This record gives sequence, structure tokens and C-alpha cells, in this order.
Amino acid sequence: MKGPFELDPQAEAFIRWATAHLTSEEATLDRKLGAFLRGYTGPPKAACDDTRSSIREDAAVREIARLLGEYAGPVRVLDACCGFGNLPRQVLRSMRADIDRISFCAVDRDTGSIEAIRSKIDLFNGFLAFDLMQREVWDLAGLDSHTVDLIVLNNALREIPPSSYSKLFSVFNSLLRPDRGRICIIDMESQPVDAPESIAINWDGTEAKRFLAAGGFAPELTLHDKQTTVYQLHCRHSPAGVDGAAMTGELRALLEIKLHAALERRRNPSRRNHQEWLVATGTVARCVEELTAFGAFPPRPTV
Ligand SMILES: C[S@@+](CC[C@H](N)C(=O)[O-])C[C@H]1O[C@@H](n2cnc3c(N)ncnc32)[C@H](O)[C@@H]1O
Repeated sequence: MKGPFELDPQAEAFIRWATAHLTSEEATLDRKLGAFLRGYTGPPKAACDDTRSSIREDAAVREIARLLGEYAGPVRVLDACCGFGNLPRQVLRSMRADIDRISFCAVDRDTGSIEAIRSKIDLFNGFLAFDLMQREVWDLAGLDSHTVDLIVLNNALREIPPSSYSKLFSVFNSLLRPDRGRICIIDMESQPVDAPESIAINWDGTEAKRFLAAGGFAPELTLHDKQTTVYQLHCRHSPAGVDGAAMTGELRALLEIKLHAALERRRNPSRRNHQEWLVATGTVARCVEELTAFGAFPPRPTV
């Protein structure tokens, strides 16, 4: 007869097994993989930590300083995908004297980022103007054509679906001042091994240069060794506009190459490297999603 707190022998055996299992190496591996998976599939962070930093506000700040030096009068900057506003803060820290010549517009779709900036909006009073907009980055209706000197896309291109690029760059091009406007794109060439993002499609600098050139820009590329290589591309206004079909054709070809490379990594991950297999699988899915948006696969069957 069992006492009031005695379990039946089978349940006790199960608890002994589960306790042993939870402290085993296997369980530690499962917990690590679980944490990795949560990070990988969760929303991307709005900023990288400083040690890894793919963030290169310094490059954007140099561009703004160049504009202020070369031209008299006001300079208009659009921070596309501004996150928590690292760039305008860095501009404020670096160039106090000429702040009142800079008209700054910051755009992001993320409510947390917009609210964080709005809660400190007084910080930005020194600018000639400071506009904050919660939008998809290609939805810039209301901004006047041919008025922007510099559009900065820092640490964000990989999060924007390539199927939107032709629309995005066409809108950017229409906003640039034809005589001196530039787009400055900065991003990581590859995912950090310890914190990849399932939404991301990373380009290396030469790939990004290829689809921008196909679209009609004349991009200038530089590379910078951070924890992962970071590329920087500068594009002047394209007088003939953006050739969306040619850009899309190039993107489609590049995505097909990425898809096959990810399939190869998925078939042959390093031994017991579950994380590598997961990221390869996620990359296959992302490439297929984007290729589907480009019409590379037959339409979804209806039942
Ligand atoms: C890694 S953060 C970089 C933020 C900032 N540029 C920086 O360097 O600190 C990427 C930002 O892009 C924004 N973003 C991604 N896709 C977007 C879209 N389609 N429209 C607007 N913002 C977008 C995210 O909300 C996020 O704040």
C-alpha cells in the first residue's frame, strides 16, 4: 500500500530518467539549440552590439560632412530604416557647428523604434528640421521629388525583401537631387554565425553592385573588415531612372545562385552542426519565397 506522498514505481522511474536526461550533454545541446532557434526566428534586433558592429554611422557622417563642406545652404538627409536613431545622434555628436543646416528625415516601420525616438525628440531640436515617419521604407509619398542630398540605408538592406528593391530604388532615385544626391548603402556581407536572422538575405558587395548597376546606377564599392565583412556602396542619381526589369532579372539570377549554395550547405553541414543545417534550411526557404515573388515558380495551385 502506497503512503500519501509515494508515487507509483513507474512514475518514479520516469522522473529519475527525466532528471538524468535533463542534466545530460544531450539536453544541454537541446537547450542551446532551442535558444538559437528562438533568436534565429525572432524579429531581428534594431541594433547590433558594438563589438560586432556592422553599423558604420561614421561613413554616413563623413558623407554629410562632405556635403556641408562642398555646398552652401541646407542639406537634406533621409535615414531610411532608422532603427533607434543611432545616425542622427551620431551626427549631433560629431558636427555640432553645422547642425542647423541639416534637415533630417528618419523613417522606420517599427513602432518600438519610432516610439523610442519620439520619447527623446527634444534631442533633435538643433537640426534645421527633424521629421519622423512610421512607414514601409518604399512608401515615401509626401516627400518632394529631387530634394534629398543623401539617403542612408545603414545595416538594413538584408531585411528588405529583394522583390521590393526595384520599387524601393526607383522611389529613392526620384527623391535624390539630380545634381548632387547620393544613396549610401552599408550592410554586412554575411550573417554573424552566433546571431543569424531568418528574415535576412545578405549580399556581398559585388552582388549588390551587380543588381544596382543592372538597375542603371553607377555604384562605387568599398569593403571594411569588421567581425563580418561590411560593404559600402555609393550611388549617384540615375538620370535615366531605374530599370526595374533589369534589376529584377539580375536579382533573380543572384537568388538562384544563393539557393543552390544553401542547398549544398544543407546537404553537407559540418558534422553534428545543427545550427548550420537550420540556417541553410532557412536560407533555402527565404530564397524560394523571393523567387516565388519574382514568378520563378508556377502559381500556387487552388484546390
Ligand atoms: C538592424 S536595424 C538598423 C537600424 C539603423 N539603421 C542602425 O543602423 O542603427 C534595421 C531596421 O530596419 C527596419 N526595417 C526593416 N524593414 C523595413 C521596411 N520594409 N520598412 C521600414 N523599416 C524597415 C527595422 O524596423 C529596423 O529598425
